Amino acid sequence: MSQAEQKELVASTAIDTLIKDKKIFSGMKIGLGTGSTAVPAVKHLAKRIADGTVKDIKAVVTSFGTQNLCEELGIPVYSMNDKIIGGHLDLAIDGADEVDPQNNVIKGGGAALLREKIVAYNSDQFVIVADSTKVVDSLGTKFHLPVEIIGEARVPVTAALNKLGAECFLREGVRKCGPVITDNGNQILDIVWKEPVDPAKMEDVINGIVGVVDNGFFTKNKPIVFTIDSDCKVIQR
Ligand code: 5RP
Repeated sequence: MSQAEQKELVASTAIDTLIKDKKIFSGMKIGLGTGSTAVPAVKHLAKRIADGTVKDIKAVVTSFGTQNLCEELGIPVYSMNDKIIGGHLDLAIDGADEVDPQNNVIKGGGAALLREKIVAYNSDQFVIVADSTKVVDSLGTKFHLPVEIIGEARVPVTAALNKLGAECFLREGVRKCGPVITDNGNQILDIVWKEPVDPAKMEDVINGIVGVVDNGFFTKNKPIVFTIDSDCKVIQR
């Protein structure tokens, strides 16, 4: 099964399983993630809204990309700050770049980590949908951890991250000169260590650096992870 087929399968199965388990229900407030696995999840949710399985879904999105998709699909989008949302969601569903055995996650491959974390950390239930390539033994040495920074602080933040043993790479735009600018107007440093790190500790240490807005370690609201096993079956862990 190709990686794209895995993404479709895990995303649609997760939505139907969550509906069956009453974790996705009519009238709920749901956070919708960003990326090529979140897209089929949002599309499948739209199908279940269209066929009447779930009604009156209120979505909070994590990027302009997902906002555009919801507008196209007719899913009503709200701000976290809207009175009807009240800063809290019932469930958030999103993709991941890496997941370790404790369900610690790296996210931010699509530079949407900040709004993804706002949504994930303010939800009763966080759900990750991930193809089998995302499941790893440890975090920090393979997929580079995205760190969203204030552009003006790039040099001191880089120096502080170097002191933590990380090598840093400013994420460059594609078909755009200069750095990637996030949906929040910031820049991204992609960082990597030679040895695995403790993601829970590093999440806090990195966020303590002046000029860092947030980083892509998600360790505080442990997700249910839907992924694919070696028999091409969707599993939950
Ligand atoms: C975007 C993200 C994505 O969820 C993550 O990069 C996984 O993307 P994909 O599903 O396309 O592999 O964190 O910021």
